[in-house]
Amino acid sequence: MSDYIDQMNRALRPVAPPQILEGVYTEDQFHRLQEIIKRDGPWPTIAAHHFQSVEELIATVTGVVPEGLDLTLDDIASPQFRGFYAQNSVSFYPEINDCFYNDGFLELVKNYWGAQYAKPTMMLFNVCGPYPAVAPPPAHLDAVTFRGVRYENSPVWLMNCMAKSGLFTDHLVKMAQVITWWYTGENGTFTYWPDGPLGDPKILQHPLWNKGVVVQNELMFHRGDPVGAFDSPPIANLKHLSEMGYDPDADRWNIYTDGEPVHSYEPQDMRFLVHWNAEVYADRDEMRRSMDHTDDLTIEEAIGRLLADMRGKGMKVAEPSDPLHDTEFIRAVVSAYTIAPTTEWLEFPAA
Ligand SMILES: [Fe+2]
Repeated sequence: MSDYIDQMNRALRPVAPPQILEGVYTEDQFHRLQEIIKRDGPWPTIAAHHFQSVEELIATVTGVVPEGLDLTLDDIASPQFRGFYAQNSVSFYPEINDCFYNDGFLELVKNYWGAQYAKPTMMLFNVCGPYPAVAPPPAHLDAVTFRGVRYENSPVWLMNCMAKSGLFTDHLVKMAQVITWWYTGENGTFTYWPDGPLGDPKILQHPLWNKGVVVQNELMFHRGDPVGAFDSPPIANLKHLSEMGYDPDADRWNIYTDGEPVHSYEPQDMRFLVHWNAEVYADRDEMRRSMDHTDDLTIEEAIGRLLADMRGKGMKVAEPSDPLHDTEFIRAVVSAYTIAPTTEWLEFPAA
C-alpha cells in the first residue's frame, strides 16, 4: 500500500465507532417533525439546495471543470428532497425546539467525542419515495470544516483534500450527527465505512423505524442506499428544480415539476431521514479558540502544508501563483489526495 493511501485510509475514520440508537424521537416529536414537512412544502431536491450548475457540482469534486461539458443538472436529477429545520444554531420552527435544542442528543455527542461541550448547529430532513436504481450510489464524506478554512471562504475541493490528507486534524472543527430514519419499504438502508475506506463497510439494517446512528460523517465514508424495489417505476419528467409536496386531500405525496404533479406516492412508501448536527468542543479552551478565531488557519498555510507534504513524498509540484485558481496545481492536489471505498462488490442488481 502506498504511503498516501495508507495515510488517507488512517485519516478517514470517525473518532469513535458509530453508535446505533433505537426509539430516537418520541411519537409526538416525530409527528411534529412530519407536520412541518407536510405543511410547508413543496421541498426542493437535495442537489438544488447546493448547486446551480453542473460546473459547480463537478468543481466541488474535482476542483477543475472539464471543457466542453455537455450535461445539464436535469440529466442527473435525483428524486431526493430536502428542507432545513434549523441552521447556524437557530431553530426555524418553535414547535420542534425540543428536538433541535436536544438535551439527550447533546449528551450523546459529547460522550461520543469524550468532550465537555457541544452546541446544536443544524437540522434538516430528507424525504423521498422509491425510484429505479440505475447505479450504486457513490460513497461520500460530508463537508469538513477547519478553524479558519471553512465553507464561507474556501472551495469544497480544498477542504475535502485537507480532510483526506490527515494533515489538519489540529484545526478540525469537531462535529457529530444524530441521523434517524423512518422507512418501512424495501432497501433504503445506510452503508458506512467505520474502519476507513479500505475497511469493510457496515449496513444499518431494517427495521428502520425511528432508528438512528451517532456518527462523524465528515470523516467517515457513507451513502444512502437506493430506496424501494430496484425496478421501481421511473419518474417521468423529473428535473433539477422538481419539488416534493404532500397533498392532504388525497393523503398522497407528489413530485411536482413546474408546478404540475409528475409522480405520486402512498404515505407508507415514503422514507424520512432527520439529520441533526452539533459542534463539539473538548474543553472551554477549544470552545474559545473556535469562537474568537485566535487559532485560525489561513488558506495560505493550508496550501503550504499540502505542498510540503506532496513534495516530501516525491511529487514534483510547481509553486502555484494563485493556488485557488491555478488549474495545474488544483489537479495535482486533487489527484494526490484521492481515495474512495470500492462499492462494486456490495450487493446490487446487474445493470
Ligand atoms: Fe452525507
